[in-house]
Amino acid sequence: HMKGAIFDLDGVIVDTAKYHYLAWKALANRLGFEFTEAHNERLKGVSRVESLRILLEIGGIEVDEQTFNEMAESKNKEYVASIAKLQPEEILPGAKAYLQQLRSQGVKIALGSASKNAEFILSKLEIADLFDAVIDGNKVSKAKPDPEVFVSASVALGLDPKDCVVFEDAEAGVQAGKAAGSKVVGIGSPEILREADLVIAGLAELAG
Ligand code: G6P
Ligand code: MG
Repeated sequence: HMKGAIFDLDGVIVDTAKYHYLAWKALANRLGFEFTEAHNERLKGVSRVESLRILLEIGGIEVDEQTFNEMAESKNKEYVASIAKLQPEEILPGAKAYLQQLRSQGVKIALGSASKNAEFILSKLEIADLFDAVIDGNKVSKAKPDPEVFVSASVALGLDPKDCVVFEDAEAGVQAGKAAGSKVVGIGSPEILREADLVIAGLAELAG
């Protein structure tokens, strides 16, 4: 029985995953290498710093700490410029209806995202008030697949992780949810989200 629902943000509530990808791809191209959607799967759900580490590893590039920090900052600048234009209409199909439906059933709702831009995105989408708790990249120290973000979100809801369902589009996020002891609904491709308890194409399948 689901007492709490914990939602990842990028790729679950809103398609910001594509803006992350475009900003990382632009950085890779500036550095002189291609960055494919297959490469990008490794970055989904992963923190900004860890994402850059993986990207540089793919490009076979080593940089000093200052350059690393400048690269992370320039990617974030480009990403924030894209999400600054986000509109409430860009909430993924069914996501808002499903959140409202869960609330009306008395299910507690949390956000569990690695992003440091999560609050900004929720405010742009005008859905911050649908969440009882927000655990984001400013509040956790260990990136997915570590379960920290989902354990913290459960605690913030006053619930045991095993009574919560995690909704995730990233392989690392599915692993984090399972490691927390929650049931996990994968959003996306069953080939990629193999460890999820159930895989759906989008929240529209559950709303209504
Ligand atoms: C989410 C996304 C990742 C992103 C991470 C950090 O988990 O899936 O692709 O790298 O958040 O986002 P931020 O907005 O803090 O750079
Ligand atoms: Mg995601």
